[in-house]
Amino acid sequence: MTADEPKISRRLERMDDLVSLCARRGFVFPSSEIYGGINGFWDYGPLGVELKNNLKAIWWQRVVRERDDVEGLDSSIIAHPRTWEASGHVEHFSDPMIDCRACKKRFRADQLEEAGHCPAREGSSEHDFTEPRRFNLMLSTRIGASEDAASVAYLRPETCQSIFNDFKRVREVSRQPIPFGIAQIGKAFRNEINPRNFTFRSREFEQAELEYFCHPSERAKWFAHWRDERLRFHRDLGFDESCLRTRPHAQDELAHYCQAAFDIEYRFPFGWQEIEGIHDRGDWDLTRHGEYSGKDLGVTDLETKERFVPIVIETSVGIDRTCLALLANAYEEQSLDDGETRTVLHLHPAIAPIKVAVLPLSKKLAEPARGLARDLRSGMSVFYDDAGNIGRRYRRQDEAGTPYCVTYDFESLTDGRVTVRDRDSMKQERIALADVRAHLRERVELGS
Ligand code: GAP
Repeated sequence: MTADEPKISRRLERMDDLVSLCARRGFVFPSSEIYGGINGFWDYGPLGVELKNNLKAIWWQRVVRERDDVEGLDSSIIAHPRTWEASGHVEHFSDPMIDCRACKKRFRADQLEEAGHCPAREGSSEHDFTEPRRFNLMLSTRIGASEDAASVAYLRPETCQSIFNDFKRVREVSRQPIPFGIAQIGKAFRNEINPRNFTFRSREFEQAELEYFCHPSERAKWFAHWRDERLRFHRDLGFDESCLRTRPHAQDELAHYCQAAFDIEYRFPFGWQEIEGIHDRGDWDLTRHGEYSGKDLGVTDLETKERFVPIVIETSVGIDRTCLALLANAYEEQSLDDGETRTVLHLHPAIAPIKVAVLPLSKKLAEPARGLARDLRSGMSVFYDDAGNIGRRYRRQDEAGTPYCVTYDFESLTDGRVTVRDRDSMKQERIALADVRAHLRERVELGS
């Protein structure tokens, strides 16, 4: 056993440990922190934005670029207000809300177990609840200078509706036959009654959605295809198998547009929770948008001349939730043989914000070490650090999830080799400078 080998290790048990690491290292912290934060809104710092961008890039690569039957889209956040009448959101997109007359707090009526005691009622700890009311979760805004009802618009509560609005145009310009899909990544907004569990339930978040349009006779085939594809995606990101599961929806759980659905769930410290939904949306969306817009969104089969409205199979993953699950999955505290504790994020190298840290043993080696960092930078994200004790520098990189550290020492000047340290095993090997780039590149890509 080397001095550094872990004796005891602990996975994430309390979200607070992750919240504090995320703030301390600048992954994620409250938005508008200097004003005390704003409930349900979060900012991603230097490490967080890299993590998130890596996840989005891998999703785009898998879902769009590696396929010839999927096209990309980047639509506006605000759509024509009729969109939300057609989609059913104006009528149905609400949660039951309940108020306490005494403490004035607001709760979701279906989550009252979280209400706890009423802080405002002496002699009784019970809340003084009103009757439940429906509360629409769409955030609204106004367009233009007028203040009348006609100027009201909504910040989209899901990204997919613009895909349906643009279905005809994208199909025409891409000349895609059915089946084919349209994919989009973007912000969505929901006026959640109780944002909670860090970024898990936020009021502003990102979704990566695919709407796949197929013939009604093929819906079961494509539903199974996308369920398997999306599971493969999550497995490849390195989720612990025991923390990942799928859960079909019972009939009474299905959203108003849904014929069948199942969730991909991750086991957070606060329980099993959805990170992605796979939905058979039937022909609900295209039929409704066809009715409300007066445009025919049906298609004709070129061979059989059959006219039909395609069925939509949807995959909808929360980027923020998946980032949170990846961080929770990666977190470990290890007690080392030398009495120290190291906190390490075992992020998959393809997801890790920094791929390699270049750490000269002494500031006197800054020049050649900076040269190495410069060479590596064109192919991967590199961090350079020449300040302080090397052990402490390694710990900082472990906590950031950096899979490799390259140490440039005095011997490197004469033997042309550097030490590459692996984050997970803490093993070190000497590698020729000329080979470092190739050595790292093949290890930091997905599939490695
Ligand atoms: N277009 C379908 C749709 O929006 P959804 O199950 O409501 O379906 C899909 O949302 C995904 O979006 C969820 O699996 C979750 O990852 C993410 N999501 C939904 N609401 C969220 C919230 N308030 N905060 C963070 N992520 C959220």
